[in-house]
Amino acid sequence: MSDLGFEKAAKALAHARRVAVFSGAGISAESGIPTFRSAGGLWENFQLEDVATPEGFHRNPALVWEFYEARRKAVHHASPNPGHFAIARMAGLFEEMTTITQNVDGLHQRAGSPAVLELHGSLWSARCAQDCGAVVDPFPFPAASCPPRCKCGALLRPGVVWFGEMLPERIWHDAMNASAQSDVVLVVGTSGAVWPAAGIPIAARREGAFVIEVNPEESELTSNLDLSLRGLSGEILPRLLDAATELRALRPATEKRG
Ligand code: APR
Repeated sequence: MSDLGFEKAAKALAHARRVAVFSGAGISAESGIPTFRSAGGLWENFQLEDVATPEGFHRNPALVWEFYEARRKAVHHASPNPGHFAIARMAGLFEEMTTITQNVDGLHQRAGSPAVLELHGSLWSARCAQDCGAVVDPFPFPAASCPPRCKCGALLRPGVVWFGEMLPERIWHDAMNASAQSDVVLVVGTSGAVWPAAGIPIAARREGAFVIEVNPEESELTSNLDLSLRGLSGEILPRLLDAATELRALRPATEKRG
């Protein structure tokens, strides 16, 4: 990672009033949670058509629940890492800070992040798969049975957004607005392979946000962003936060008053 890039990122954060973070599975990798598309990722070992689509659930709900219950078990026994904690601490540094995540693991919230917008739902909620519309939130681990049942007797389904399903409308709007109004957007640990979520940092940049990527590898978003810092989020984000905090303290009083 070039020092120049790091300094530019720290400077941009030092002068920012509104910041948004857009995160993906990579931020939870250092907590021992597998990503989807990196080596050894979930989609290497599972057919997403079978475990992450409404059709797959219809065909074999037990298989789908085995998949999600195993993911819930892994996250239940995991902890947020320094990357999650750095983002939670950032909330106290800026006038406005929004965390927009594609992750369903809830580790941002467990690290103390206040305003988290979950674009793809959560492993910790479930709802009736039929029409009774019952929502179980929180839906703690372990489930009472696998597959679990709704109080109406029908199956419950995981509270996540599957491929082919719409994102929650209000959360989508809030995420687009928050990122578009941000001075800086941090894109952390995502391949940018899944839309419409991947459109959020690109739209924010079009609205004038300075967009910084943190990823050990090039992603599908890299060429559309302002800056890309190569490395692990658990290492880069705490350092970036410290550098930005130091620089913010040096700002002229007029800027501080804002
Ligand atoms: N720090 C930062 N980035 C990392 C780290 C790390 N420690 N480890 C891996 N990465 C990066 C990888 O290089 C990769 O670009 O995280 C990214 C993970 O990409 P994916 O596995 O594709 O995960 P994500 O982008 O979150 O997937 C998007 O796809 O399967 C669906 O709904 C699911 O929300 C998910 C969406």
